[in-house]
Amino acid sequence: MSREPILQPTADFVDDDRDLRPQRMQDMVGQREVYARLEIAVDAAEKRGDQLGHILFDGPPGLGKTTFATCIPRDLGVNFQIASGAALAAPKDVIPYLTNAEERSVLFIDEIHRLPKAVEEFLYPAMEDFRIDLTLGEGVNARTINMQLKPFTLIGATTRTGLLSAPLRDRFQMREHLDFYTIEELAEIVRRNAGKLRVEIETDAAVEIAGRSRSTPRLANNRLRWVRDYTQSKADGRITLGVARAALEMQEIDVKGLDRQDRKYLETIARVFGGGPVGVEAVAHTMNLTVDTLIDEVEPYLLRSELVVRTPRGRKMTAAALDHLGLGGTASPAAGEQQRSLFG
Ligand SMILES: Nc1ncnc2c1ncn2[C@@H]1O[C@H](COP(=O)(O)OP(=O)(O)O)[C@@H](O)[C@H]1O
Ligand SMILES: [Mg+2]
Repeated sequence: MSREPILQPTADFVDDDRDLRPQRMQDMVGQREVYARLEIAVDAAEKRGDQLGHILFDGPPGLGKTTFATCIPRDLGVNFQIASGAALAAPKDVIPYLTNAEERSVLFIDEIHRLPKAVEEFLYPAMEDFRIDLTLGEGVNARTINMQLKPFTLIGATTRTGLLSAPLRDRFQMREHLDFYTIEELAEIVRRNAGKLRVEIETDAAVEIAGRSRSTPRLANNRLRWVRDYTQSKADGRITLGVARAALEMQEIDVKGLDRQDRKYLETIARVFGGGPVGVEAVAHTMNLTVDTLIDEVEPYLLRSELVVRTPRGRKMTAAALDHLGLGGTASPAAGEQQRSLFG
């Protein structure tokens, strides 16, 4: 398992996405129901002068889990610390975060499904009673002392709620699932972020970038950054529909927003496994990727757009996927034509 660097507990952590990440919940686009519920919880906690209840976010990568988790403490006007579940290998790793937590402050644990069981269990009393049980000494001399913590808020984020143990899940007062964005919402994000990047963009170009971003804000931002570079290098610095299309075609991002890896996944199932059904492990192995990468990053959008379905015997391509790849048989246009139409 790859170890990820732990971000130091600090109020002003370094965010590599800072230029485009909304700083306040009200600046976020979409997720209206989630936003409405969180706004009530934040408002009520502020009115009571209490800590906010613990919150768990889940959903595929790039949909706003970290953004919500970092906007909430700003909205509350409290400090926050950020840690990654992958880096908290033992209870001793999480102790500094807990003892540093100020009253009403937020501790954000990203990838919380990667916490080992011992750390999860250590967190239970911290979450429930703001208390940790420390064992000092060894063997017959060992004794347990209780240490009182300041009341704080734990925010967890995960791409896989299924991997979280039920007792941990149940200790979060709010559980919010983030879903994919509509093209209109993504186009709005692209339009606003073009402004932040100080580049002019035409409305239909923003819609085009949105449509090729797999319903995911992070991808919309990445594509926008690339289109901006392309525009500034190859065109007059203004993003038009034609320029946006040319830039995305150069990156091999097709009209459905699939990139080379997505198409390789579909092609692997088609060519190597006869369209499926096939176990995800076999596909991952053939593509030389981890199962986690496939399940977390590649499959959610392909499943959602019904290019792939899950069956009891494994993954299976749909007719739409065959059509999209130009393997759809007699009813579909010739492969060469289809290949061109993929790009628009
Ligand atoms: N609701 C939103 N409104 C505007 N931008 C968003 C929204 N959600 C995500 N983004 C953008 O997408 C990027 C990735 O989101 P992030 O919160 O890091 O995703 P996650 O933590 O779920 O993987 C953010 O930096 C931000 O710029
Ligand atoms: Mg994140």
